[in-house]
Amino acid sequence: MYLRNLFLGVSIVLFFSMNASAEDGSGTIDASTFGCISEMTRAGDFYVDNLQGNLAATIAVAESPTGGTYPPGSVIQLVPTEVMVKHEPGFNAATRDWEFFELDVASGATSIKTRGFAETVNRFGGNCFACHIQARPEWDLICGKDHGCDPIPLTPIMIIAIQKTDPRCAAVELSAEETDALKALAEAMPAQ
Ligand code: HEC
Repeated sequence: MYLRNLFLGVSIVLFFSMNASAEDGSGTIDASTFGCISEMTRAGDFYVDNLQGNLAATIAVAESPTGGTYPPGSVIQLVPTEVMVKHEPGFNAATRDWEFFELDVASGATSIKTRGFAETVNRFGGNCFACHIQARPEWDLICGKDHGCDPIPLTPIMIIAIQKTDPRCAAVELSAEETDALKALAEAMPAQ
């Protein structure tokens, strides 16, 4: 009985937190919020945007050598299928107001596979928050290359090749090295 009530309680909390995730100062965040990754603004290795028109403030944190707290509306992407969006202060204290998204972009259009806060898991079974919270506090859950997170199995050249082959973007030439990196990646990945 206790367990059942606990389960109900957790479901209710999840239900409300999912509802709450739909709207804040950034308006409704849905599949139409996201598009071709390379049309965002490049900042270091990843791409950024700001849903509240505050792109300069997002870039300033992304390019700061000492870190900082990203402003609400910040959108961060390293690869086409995984996104972090910053909500208003206090929206979700545990994740420092970041919402995690996994997108499906294979068809050339965006759909949201999963979204949420501390519970969100990617298609490889990895919990976004569990890795990103390892970043030292001044980096606001952004892992980068050396902020303290467990590494992901992607070389820098693989990351560039994945960014260049977002099916939502116009096709671009790949170097031989990038093509090889994608082949190596396909061989290393379990069939999905
Ligand atoms: C195994 C740990 C791990 C998991 C699980 C994980 N990430 Fe990451 N993520 C990283 C690391 C490490 C980087 C930096 C990689 C690099 O720059 O080479 C990164 C980079 C990113 C970035 C670019 C900004 C940054 O932190 O450098 C975003 C956005 C991101 N991940 C979103 C997600 C989302 C959304 C999920 C879940 C759907 C997720 N990640 C799951 C470890 C992880």
